[in-house]
Amino acid sequence: MSSTQYELHGRVAVISMHNPPVNGLGYELRRGIVDGVKKAEADDNVKAVVIIGSEQAFSGGADIREFGTPKMMAEPTLPTVINFLDTTTKPVVAAIGGVAMGGGLELAMGCHYRIAKADTKVALPEVKLGILPGAGGTQRLPRLIGVEHALNLIVSGATVPAAMFKGSPLFDEFSQGELLQDALAFAEKLIDEGKGIRRVRDMKVSHPKAEAFFMWAGNGIQQMAKNYPAPMKCLEAVKASVFKKFDDGIKVERDAFAQLIQTEESKSLRHAFFAERATSKIPDVPEDTPTRDIKSVGVIGAGTMGSGIAINFLNAGIPVRILEMKQEALDRGVKHIQGVYEGRVKKGKMTAEDAEKKVALLQPTLSYDDLSDVDLVIEAVFEDMGVKQQVFEKLDQICKHGAILASNTSTLDLNKIASFTKRPEDVIGLHFFSPANVMKLLEVVRGEKTSKEVLATSMKLAKKIKKTAVISGVCDGFIGNRMVGRYQTEALLMLEEGATPQQIDKAIEKFGFVMGPLRMADLAGGDIGWAIRKRHYEEKPDMKRMVIADRLCEMGRFGQKTGAGFYKYIPGNRKPQHDPEVDKVIEECRKEMGITPRKISDQEIVERCVYALVNEGARILEEGIAQRASDIDIVYLTGYGFPVFRGGPMFYADQVGLLNVVRAIEKIRENPNTDSKFWEPAPLLAKLADEGKTFN
Ligand code: 3HC
Ligand code: NAI
Repeated sequence: MSSTQYELHGRVAVISMHNPPVNGLGYELRRGIVDGVKKAEADDNVKAVVIIGSEQAFSGGADIREFGTPKMMAEPTLPTVINFLDTTTKPVVAAIGGVAMGGGLELAMGCHYRIAKADTKVALPEVKLGILPGAGGTQRLPRLIGVEHALNLIVSGATVPAAMFKGSPLFDEFSQGELLQDALAFAEKLIDEGKGIRRVRDMKVSHPKAEAFFMWAGNGIQQMAKNYPAPMKCLEAVKASVFKKFDDGIKVERDAFAQLIQTEESKSLRHAFFAERATSKIPDVPEDTPTRDIKSVGVIGAGTMGSGIAINFLNAGIPVRILEMKQEALDRGVKHIQGVYEGRVKKGKMTAEDAEKKVALLQPTLSYDDLSDVDLVIEAVFEDMGVKQQVFEKLDQICKHGAILASNTSTLDLNKIASFTKRPEDVIGLHFFSPANVMKLLEVVRGEKTSKEVLATSMKLAKKIKKTAVISGVCDGFIGNRMVGRYQTEALLMLEEGATPQQIDKAIEKFGFVMGPLRMADLAGGDIGWAIRKRHYEEKPDMKRMVIADRLCEMGRFGQKTGAGFYKYIPGNRKPQHDPEVDKVIEECRKEMGITPRKISDQEIVERCVYALVNEGARILEEGIAQRASDIDIVYLTGYGFPVFRGGPMFYADQVGLLNVVRAIEKIRENPNTDSKFWEPAPLLAKLADEGKTFN
C-alpha cells in the first residue's frame, strides 16, 4: 500500500496517512500529502480537505530513521509540506487521534482547522532527541496556546492529552464519535458557512512582560539543561515568535534545528531512543512466541531487594506473597514496603486509598506452602550458592507445573542454580537494581536451558512493571556488574598511583556520570564489593589485591551505611565529606606498596575508567553475553548513571573512533600498575578498529 490514500467524500477530499507503526513523516508520506492536496486543489468539486492518520497515530512526527540520510532533506521536506498548506486555497482540516507528536503536531498546526479525539496524546518531544521542533512548532504553538504554555511544552517535551487545550484554537472541536465522520461533518459545516483558509502564521502572539518572562525562564532552563544545548535553543526560538515576524522566527528555528541535529548530544539521544526499543527484540525468539499468564508472584527474602522487587508488582496490581525465614525479618520487610507507600502519599504522588489498595495485595508468609500456586517466584535471599540451592530445591518441590522460578542473584552462576531443579527450562535470572522499585533497568538472565516461552514471558512482564529489560547471558556479574568491576578497579588503582577520591569522582562527574565510582561504591555498600573481591581472590590466588579498598573495609568503613567509606558522612546527610583519615590510609598503603605518588590528569581518569567499560563491553559482546552493543549502552544509561548525552559506553567509543580508543588503551597498558592482560585491546575492538568500523 502506498503511504497515502486519496478518497472523495462528496465535496471533501480525504487524505489518509498509512505509514505504520506511527505514521512517521518519511519522504513517501510527505510526497503523498502534497500530491493529495494538489489533486484536491485541481478538482473544482472539492471544497475542503481532511488529513487523517490511523487510530493509533495521527503521526509520531518526522521519521527519525531518516535523520542524517539524504531522504530527510529530499523535497518536499516537512517545512515545505507545511508551507504548501499555507499557500493552498481550500481549507484543510487535520483529524487527529492516537498521538500527534513532533512533526505530527506541526503538520496539524500547519492545517487550517483541527478536530481531535480528547484522549489524543500530543507533544513536541524533539528536545528529548536533542533538537527542537523544526517545522514551525516553535512559532505556531505560542500563537495557539500562548507563550508560557508553549514554552513549557516545548522545553519539557512532555506528552499531554489534547483535552488539556479545550477552549484554545489548537483544537477547534473534539470528536465524540467516529473521528472521520466527525471530521467530514466539520468540513461540510466549514463549506456551508463559507469559511476559507485560516493560517496560524497570521495569528497574533504577545506576552505582557515578554522580556522579563524570557529572562526568568532562561535562568531556570540554563540551570536545568546543563550538558544539553537544545532547551536554550527552544527558548530562543519561542522568544523569536514574540519579537520577530513569522518568517524571521521560522529562520531562527531552522538555523537552530540545523545546528542541533549535528550535535553529539542529539546523536546520542537518538541512539538511546532506538537502542531502548531494540532491547526487546531477541533474534531467536519470534514475537509470536507464546507467553504465560502471570497473575500472582512470590518473592523470597524481604530484605533490601526482595521488598523493592515486591513493590514493582504491587504497583502493577499483581498480588505478591512475600516469604521470610523469621517473623522479625518479615515484619521489617512489610514495614519497609508500607513506608514506601506512605512516603508516596505524603508527597502527594498517590492517594491514601490507592496506597491501601496496593498494600492489600501483599500477603506476608513464613510458609513455602503459600507459594505452591503462584505463577512466578523471584528469589532474593543471601548471595550464597548454598542458600540458593536450598531455596531452589524447595521451590522445585512445591511450585506448580509451569511456574517460572527466577533468581535475583547478581554474581552467581544461573545455570548452576537451575541445575538444583528438575525444570531448568523454567529457571531465569531477573536481576533488579537497587532500589528495585526505582531503578528502570532489569537484566533478564538467559540460562543455557531457559525456554523461549519463559524468556518471552519475562520480557512481557518487564514492560508491565515498567522496566527496561536487557537480555544477558550467564557470566560473573552479567553485563552491568562485570563491566563496572573493571571500571571500579581502575579507579582504585589510580588511588594507589596518586589520585584522591575527590579528584576521581569529580573528573568522572564532569564527564557526565551521575556519580563518580567511589561515591557509587559508598552508596552501594563497600561490603558488597569486598565480598566479591574476596571470592575472586580465592578463585584466582595470583590476582592483584585492591589494597586501599580492602583496608577501608577491614576498618568497617562500608560507605554510607556505616557513616564512612571513601568519604565520611554526617548522620542523616548523604553528601560525602572529605575525610583526612582516608588520606592517611591511602598514604600508608602507597608506602607499603612502594609507590611514589604521581600527578594524574582528569583525562587519564576518564580514559582509564571509561575505556575499561568499553574493553570489557567488547569482550561481553564477542562472547555473546550481550545481544548487541546498544543493549550494553542501555544497561549503562538506565542502571549506572552513564551520561545520556554520550549515548552509552559503546556509542561513546564509536564517536571517539575505535582506532583512537585502541591507541589510548595501548598507552594505558604501558603503566606497570595496571592489569596488562585486561588492557590488551579486546579482539573485537581491535578488529573493528582495524576495519574502520563501529560497535553500533
Ligand atoms: N520515527 C521513526 N520511527 C518511530 C518514530 C518516529 N518518529 N516514533 C516511533 N517509531 C518507531 C519505534 O522505533 C518503534 O519501532 P520498532 O517497532 O521497529 O521498534 C515503533 O515505531 C513503535 O514505537 P514505540 O515502541 O515507542 O511505540 P509506543 O506505542 O510505545 O509509542 C510513540 C509510540 C508515542 C509515538 C513513541 O514511539 C514516541 O514517542 N516516538 C517518538 C516521537 C518523537 O520524538 N517525535 C518527534 C520526532 S522529531 C520531529 O518530529 C522533528 C520535527 O520537528 C521536524
Ligand atoms: P538482604 O540481606 O538485604 O536480604 C536478604 C533477605 O533474605 C534477608 O532478609 C534474609 O532474612 C532473607 N533470607 C535469607 N535466606 C532465606 C531463606 N532461605 N528463605 C527466606 N528468606 C531468606 O540482601 P539483598 O541485598 O536484598 O540481596 C538479596 C539478593 O539480591 C542477593 O542475591 C544479592 O546478590 C541480590 N542483589 C542485591 C543487590 C543490592 O544492591 N543489594 C542488587 C541486585 C541484586
